[in-house]
Amino acid sequence: MDKAKIKEILGTLTLEEKASLCSGADFWHTKKIEGKDIPVIMMSDGPHGLRKMYESSVNPNESIKAVCFPAACALACSFDRELVQDMGKALGNECQSEGVAVLLGPGANIKRSPLCGRNFEYFSEDPYLASQMAASHIKGVQSMGVGSSLKHFAANNQESRRLSVSSEIDERAFREIYLSAFEYAVKEARPQTVMCSYNKIWGEYSSQNKRLLTDILRDEWGFEGLVVSDWGAVDDRVKGVKAGLDLEMPASMGKNDRRIVDAVKNSELDEADLDKVAERVLSLIYTGDENRQYAARWDKDKDRALARRIAADCFVLLKNEKKILPLDTKKKIAFIGEFADKPRFQGGGSSHINVEQTASALEYSKEYAEVGYAQGYITSEDRTDDALLAEAVGLAEQSDTVVIFAGLPDAFESEGYDRQHMRMPQCQLELIDKVCEVNKNVVVVLHNGSPIELPFADKVKGILECYLAGEMVGAAQCDVLFGKVNPSGKLAETFPIKLSDNPSYLNFPGEGDTVQYKEGIFVGYRYYEKKDMQVRFPFGHGLSYTEFEYSDISLSADEINEKDILTVTVTIKNTGKRDGKETVELYVRDTHSSVVRPEKELKGFEKVSLKVGESKRVAFKLDKRAFAYYNTSINDWYVEYGEFEILIGSSSADIRQKASVYVETDNVIPMHFTLDSLGGEVMSFPEGRKIFGEVLKLVNMGFDAAQADENAQMAAQAMFNDMPLHAMVSFVNDERITRELIENMVIDLNKAAIEYAKK
Ligand code: BGC
Repeated sequence: MDKAKIKEILGTLTLEEKASLCSGADFWHTKKIEGKDIPVIMMSDGPHGLRKMYESSVNPNESIKAVCFPAACALACSFDRELVQDMGKALGNECQSEGVAVLLGPGANIKRSPLCGRNFEYFSEDPYLASQMAASHIKGVQSMGVGSSLKHFAANNQESRRLSVSSEIDERAFREIYLSAFEYAVKEARPQTVMCSYNKIWGEYSSQNKRLLTDILRDEWGFEGLVVSDWGAVDDRVKGVKAGLDLEMPASMGKNDRRIVDAVKNSELDEADLDKVAERVLSLIYTGDENRQYAARWDKDKDRALARRIAADCFVLLKNEKKILPLDTKKKIAFIGEFADKPRFQGGGSSHINVEQTASALEYSKEYAEVGYAQGYITSEDRTDDALLAEAVGLAEQSDTVVIFAGLPDAFESEGYDRQHMRMPQCQLELIDKVCEVNKNVVVVLHNGSPIELPFADKVKGILECYLAGEMVGAAQCDVLFGKVNPSGKLAETFPIKLSDNPSYLNFPGEGDTVQYKEGIFVGYRYYEKKDMQVRFPFGHGLSYTEFEYSDISLSADEINEKDILTVTVTIKNTGKRDGKETVELYVRDTHSSVVRPEKELKGFEKVSLKVGESKRVAFKLDKRAFAYYNTSINDWYVEYGEFEILIGSSSADIRQKASVYVETDNVIPMHFTLDSLGGEVMSFPEGRKIFGEVLKLVNMGFDAAQADENAQMAAQAMFNDMPLHAMVSFVNDERITRELIENMVIDLNKAAIEYAKK
């Protein structure tokens, strides 16, 4: 419906009616208005399945039977935009068939700590990867005429005290790490709605944070949709209206609507602000109503087949010594561990899908081979069951190859709380150890929503990371284990060796009601690389049953202006013995920078499918943003001129091709000098050397360079480099060095700096 018509409808509503539109009717629907013909729309969770509540149910946890797709933690490992869109389309179609107008998701929050209980619902530690995945998900869902709700905006990176904690992040890290994925998804995929987070940011709740919801989201990024509160995230509803929070969910039983009415009546709130909010609610309702496809039908078997295909493309082959995988069906194979029979495939909380069936690896192994089975441990109990352990070890002894299905039980990871540690249950670790003592051909298959410590990594021959891969997990596991599908997933996050290696370790989940993001921009591989630390498995790592060769990197130019697009091309060849897919990762590194920057940052990736012996040219386009950092002195993205390296690899730790480009900028920020500028800073500026040189000629700094030894010269130089200009007045014992002289010099320096920048 066009804007004029919406405005016309708005004009027919009373103050009370407009206010009533600003909150839900119940947990999932917008409100009806007595006597007015305004439709009602329904929202449902997402993001990896449809969690639609039965209309008749009063329990918000009773949802219809639906298909559970891989959760975001797994999905991101596919590095496959098209695949994610396909999943989005299937979800959109399910929504249409069920009369759901808005699917709540995807979540674009960054994985700051492996402990966040909700990491399984988020894509990555890297904002670029998260941005691509989120945008693809939204494009898929919305292509079916259903709205997405990009969540949880913003800085919601933990579950501890999630309804009250204040996230305190410096502006550069906020922009580069925590907002970036939201920004791209909003600009590129235009979600119909954005869901604000529960937490505060610098002391202000997201639900009433004008800077976040209006200044950044709407004014800077051009968002034109609706902002919905996370369920129960509203604090001060009137402040929320002013800040740009349109729809409060779920119902506050009219309490907050009445507050809005009172606030308008007593002039605390301008009715025009209420009109903006109500207009956006009407617009969402009519969009949903008009896009409704009543004839849509939902084929669950088709969606299950898709869920199986997606899951197999998400698994990450972390280790494959002596090509233990794919399994040799001529050998005697044992599956050990309760997860082989009852896999863990989703996390707990609002994204929990009520499935009709679950595919176990044990069941689907029959499609490929006969395998032995021993339960090994009881998933729900963190204690060794001696009888089960003995049975498993006995089976392992009689088998050629053992596949242990392990990971985290449900209770370890959920919305609502964070993990306390990064370990697997002790009984599973003991099982792996004992099996390794009797069998040298052990593969571990993992089920978890976030990194875990892997103390057995050097003992076993193979590790297949499956994350939480949806209800078809077991079928997909067999497809990969037996070689029908060649694994092609790559890690969307680093696996540190131990929890205390993680950069947020000392500041997670914060103290009291505050969490300080003291690691700044150094999240995930940005930190481990800068610190040159060993990790268990690096970001972007993932093996294949075949091999790929990288060659012939070429750039469209050696020198570009920041406004240009740089095209990077590289050849990838499948040199192994199986068809396969490779994710080619592109990182950018600033070789010299005046601010501290990561060693390199992911700025592109492409997934290519290659038959045996086939090669393809893969192209990437890099724009200004690929080279920029967020400069807080101009409050904008800024490219510093100079040389950048383009690094192409198979993982962040396996760079295969390199090239350099010189990037020019039209927008050089002039150096700015003050009385606090240091001697060394002034001398590092070519014009500064001239200006300051004249002053220096006046004085003997109290030290005779000709006579001093090398150490004394170095010490004097260091003192000078670190001395603020104003201090020269007191330190230099010469009448002619006055404050006035130094002030005039600063003026000259700034003039020269502006002229220099213009060149
Ligand atoms: C969660 C959201 C979810 C909403 C509705 C909240 O508790 O944080 O992600 O969409 O509930 O279930």
